[in-house]
Amino acid sequence: MLKLENISKTYNHRHEPLTVFDRISYEMLDGDFISIVGPSGSGKSTLLLMLGGMMSPSSGKVVIDGESIYDLPPNQRAEFRRQKIGFVFQTFNLVPYLSALENVQMPLFLAGLSEIEQKERATSVLERLGLGARLAHKPSELSVGQQQRVALARMLANDPTVVLADEPTGSLDPETSAQVMDFFEEINQEGRTVVIVTHDPSVARRAGKMLRLGDCKAPYDEQAPVWASVV
Ligand SMILES: Nc1ncnc2c1ncn2[C@@H]1O[C@H](COP(=O)(O)OP(=O)(O)O)[C@@H](O)[C@H]1O
Ligand SMILES: [Mg+2]
Repeated sequence: MLKLENISKTYNHRHEPLTVFDRISYEMLDGDFISIVGPSGSGKSTLLLMLGGMMSPSSGKVVIDGESIYDLPPNQRAEFRRQKIGFVFQTFNLVPYLSALENVQMPLFLAGLSEIEQKERATSVLERLGLGARLAHKPSELSVGQQQRVALARMLANDPTVVLADEPTGSLDPETSAQVMDFFEEINQEGRTVVIVTHDPSVARRAGKMLRLGDCKAPYDEQAPVWASVV
C-alpha cells in the first residue's frame, strides 16, 4: 500500500516559494492501476518522484508497505527503492554509451547480482519486450519506441511491486503507445501497483482509477485548488 499523508511540497524558485501541494492525503491499494492527469505544471512529475523515494516532501509522510520512506536514512531508502520500485522517466534516462543489455543490467548490478545473473535476467526481460535481437545496440542505434522498451525492461528488471511511469507514451505514435499500455496492463495483472502520469485521455481511460491534479498557481495563492479531485 502507498500512502500520502498530509503531504506538502514547496519549491524555492528564485527566492520565491512555489507551493505545488498543500496538505494532501491519498491512499493507493496494492494492485491499483492509477493514472495521474492534470495540466502542465500541476505537479504530476513532482508527485511521482515523491512516491518513488526520489524527492522528499516539504512536510508530511510517504508510507510504502508501512515504511515512512523519507524517515529512513538515505542508504536504506535507496535500498528500499531498488527492491520495490520501478521508475520510467519521461526522457527514458538511458545511459547513451551502454548497450541495451548493459542498461538493463545496471539496476541488477546495483542490487549486487553476479554478472552471470545480471546478464540472464536482463536478457530475459529484454526478450519479453521483443528486444532479444537488439541486446548489443546502444540507445542511439534504436528507434524511439525501442528505447522506450529498453527503459521499460530496465524498470522491470528488479521485479518491482510498484511501477511508476512519467508520460511513458508521450513521445510515441498511437500504435506503439497502445502496445506500451498493453504492457502496463499485463504487469498490473501480475499484481503490481501501476501509476502512470499522462496527458493522453485514451491512456488515462485504460487505468482503473484517475487522479486529477489541479492548477498550480505561481506565486503561491492560498485560494488555488492545488489538489482538485479524485475521479
Ligand atoms: N526543481 C524545481 N524548482 C522549482 N520549481 C519547480 C521545480 N520542479 C518543478 N517546479 C515547478 O513545480 C510545478 C510542478 O512541476 P511538475 O511536477 O514538473 O509538473 P507537471 O509534471 O505536472 O508538468 C511547476 O510549476 C514547476 O515549474
Ligand atoms: Mg511532468
